[in-house]
Amino acid sequence: MIEGKMTRQTIRFGVIGCGLMGREFASAAARWSHLQQVNFRPEIIAVCDPVPEAAEWFRDQVPSVRHVYTDYKDMLFNPDIDAVYCAVPHHLHSQIYTDIIRAGKHLLGEKPFGIDQAANERIMAEIASHPEVLVRCSSEFPFYPGAYRLGQWIADNRFGTILEVEAGFWHSSDLDPNKPINWKRRIATNGEYGCMGDLGMHVLHMPLRYGWQPDNVRALLGKFVKERPDGRGGMAACETWDNAILATEVKTAAGEFPMVLSTKRIAPGHANTWFLRVIGTNLSAEFSTKNPKQLAYMPYSPGEEQAWRVVDVPYQSAYPTITGPIFEFGFSDSILQMWAAFCDEIVNRGNMSQSFTCATPEEAALSHQVFTAALESQRRGTTVALS
Ligand SMILES: NC(=O)c1ccc[n+]([C@@H]2O[C@H](COP(=O)([O-])OP(=O)(O)OC[C@H]3O[C@@H](n4cnc5c(N)ncnc54)[C@H](O)[C@@H]3O)[C@@H](O)[C@H]2O)c1
Repeated sequence: MIEGKMTRQTIRFGVIGCGLMGREFASAAARWSHLQQVNFRPEIIAVCDPVPEAAEWFRDQVPSVRHVYTDYKDMLFNPDIDAVYCAVPHHLHSQIYTDIIRAGKHLLGEKPFGIDQAANERIMAEIASHPEVLVRCSSEFPFYPGAYRLGQWIADNRFGTILEVEAGFWHSSDLDPNKPINWKRRIATNGEYGCMGDLGMHVLHMPLRYGWQPDNVRALLGKFVKERPDGRGGMAACETWDNAILATEVKTAAGEFPMVLSTKRIAPGHANTWFLRVIGTNLSAEFSTKNPKQLAYMPYSPGEEQAWRVVDVPYQSAYPTITGPIFEFGFSDSILQMWAAFCDEIVNRGNMSQSFTCATPEEAALSHQVFTAALESQRRGTTVALS
């Protein structure tokens, strides 16, 4: 169905950090016509990056860009900017995010929302002083149609007694020892969390949203590739954790169950595999971006046959689009849907057209508690209770 004319409120954005993710946002904003029945639209009017070539791409590709800055503080003085998307290395999150919030701009910030727990606490304190500013953390995978439907089943209590949950996010490009080092392998820029800070918020977003907060954690962390080419003919030490398996216990009013969370930079064969598996007495279900069309599930009633079903889920996420339901959904679609959720919340607040919001700062803060406890668990070789 082609929608009628709907007035769209423009939200004027500045982008701080014009790298991989900054460009993804620009591409999502450029195809806003994909979305139907939304009364908001982003317009990127300013960008900031100290590297001129990074900002240059925006100058060339994004006609709405009117201001290019090399210092984000200058951008924050611009009164025309309503909101900021910030995608910079982790050691810069605390300073830049707090300055954005203090300037009164709404913020979609990239995970992990601070390089460590102390940095995250500074961001949370600034948020508390500016309740008028909407702050959210980027996490797009719950907007895949299969994940979105799985989330609705959790919200509707369809699983019965939960027996176990497993959630993970696996990459594999670091299997190649010749891949040059980058900021994600260094503690100073990525943080001691390593792969947990890099990938962990993605894994925790849905569990935390549905109240599955780890009570304690036993971590098994691994460093496998010790050094990498430094890009100047030499080798540089890799300092951060490559892989993490966190065995946690969840204790809710409805019951207790184990939840295994894994984040891996070296999972052979996995390019960007995000998955969630929920096993319950009435229903079990699993979604993985490895098979992005498919949702596997097994309803069960006592005495009935136990048979898994696999369905090709239609292209139906949080916000309706012009794409026909038979077509496939992909990474850039999930980014578009996440952006719609952020803009919807800025414009419509409690009256969003659907209720799944982007990850909240409180969820990001909980993820820091999990990662900090995981580091302690690894150091001590024991299970650590979350404070
Ligand atoms: N949501 C996702 O799926 C996803 C995927 C990848 C990365 N990320 C996150 O996005 C953030 C950025 O990662 P990336 O992969 O885009 O990195 P990137 O290295 O591709 O880009 C970072 C950009 O920030 C710029 N920058 C550095 N200092 C700056 C400053 N002071 N002011 C403005 N810009 C500055 C760099 O020049 C670079 O262009 C990180 O927090 C990362 O964890 C999220």
